[in-house]
Amino acid sequence: MSAGAQAPKGTFDVLPADARARDRLERIVRGVFERAGYGRIETPAFEETELFERGVGEATDVVEKEMFSFEDRGGRSISLRPEGTAPVCRAYIEHGMHKLAQPVKLFYWGPFFRYEAPQAGRYRQFHQFGAEAIGSDEPLVDAEVIMLFDEIISEAGVPGVTLRLSSLGSPESRASYREELIAYLRANESRLAGDVRERISANPMRAFDSKDEGTGEVMAGAPRLLERLEGADAEHFDAVRGLLDANGVAYEVDDTLVRGLDYYTRTVFEFDSAHLGAQSQLGGGGRYDRLVEQLGGPATPAAGWAAGIERILLAIGDDADAPSEVRDAFVAATTGEQRHRALALVAELRSAGLSAELDLGSRGLKGQLKQADRVGARSTVILDEDGSAQLRDMKSGEQREIDPAGAIQRIEELRRESS
Ligand code: HAM
Repeated sequence: MSAGAQAPKGTFDVLPADARARDRLERIVRGVFERAGYGRIETPAFEETELFERGVGEATDVVEKEMFSFEDRGGRSISLRPEGTAPVCRAYIEHGMHKLAQPVKLFYWGPFFRYEAPQAGRYRQFHQFGAEAIGSDEPLVDAEVIMLFDEIISEAGVPGVTLRLSSLGSPESRASYREELIAYLRANESRLAGDVRERISANPMRAFDSKDEGTGEVMAGAPRLLERLEGADAEHFDAVRGLLDANGVAYEVDDTLVRGLDYYTRTVFEFDSAHLGAQSQLGGGGRYDRLVEQLGGPATPAAGWAAGIERILLAIGDDADAPSEVRDAFVAATTGEQRHRALALVAELRSAGLSAELDLGSRGLKGQLKQADRVGARSTVILDEDGSAQLRDMKSGEQREIDPAGAIQRIEELRRESS
């Protein structure tokens, strides 16, 4: 194939056959959020680069290496959004949402962009849905958002799911731990991977996430933040755990869990699926009590998460009960004049709320009946040359003459009978 006739590296097309599974997931996601009183928010696909530098953190992989950033024609630095939390907080501030009843509960669904090495489950344009509850520091919020994630993946039928949970405390309580960890990393510097070494002072916690073997051995003996948790931070974590226990949500406390974005405080969590390969993370999130303030808004605690749509669909696999296509009717016609009548008839059927197709491929009658089968038509109206019409039941093959004017009524009856 010539260059230009291929989608860019790390991107993909969603074809109609794939779209059915996505649509099914979207209906589940919407249903869960709507029942819980979350309102949909859509923010632009690009933002000023500074939003992510300030919000996500300059020492994160996402900002340092993975953003699609460019200068627009007006000389502003713009970035395709790598994630949704900073943009949603920007919108919360910009639209004065702190004046609404708190917390403001929002959900989103859309494309995100990260310049990562493409592999199964990892793309440069991918899609997330997510939840952000902004304006409450209650452990109830942490528990509720986790339970909403849980509800969506169980309704969608995602297999082999586990939830890992931890707490990062507050930035103040983290400060002394940070010093301790930096000292430990420096003492073991020669065994660490190059990129970990470079970031010892900028982002020491990320060392827990390194895939490097030597680093892994060092980190096995590293001090743990969770063990240093105290006061209100420890109480908050206990309260979240208590609520999850009381509601039967299974989780594992993982004291090595660190997230790839800098804004987290207190609760952090990740959902994984054993049915995914190396990219096993279905989604993740946590509390980010300082982000709104950091972006110039009033001090506002918040919590949320985002899930990778492609990863969820990969984990479900092809055997999900994606609905196959069904049409109420196919309208077949052979001569020119009857083909014009066919177009008018499908339009009438559709405006009566029925699904209908006609032959657009100049097929003979036999080919049209085959096409009717292919699109899952329950019945086919055959418009004959002399103006009469036949109705064919596609399952039994039974065919009888009908009054063309009564076709809609008859097809409606068949629809009712089959539902
Ligand atoms: P994140 O963990 O960076 O969190 O991304 C959430 C999910 O997006 C991941 O678990 C994964 O399923 C999916 N994902 C990320 N990168 C890719 C990629 N390159 N290709 C395919 N899927 C990907 C966030 O984005 C935070 N904003 C979540 C959050 C919301 N925290 C609080 N509120």
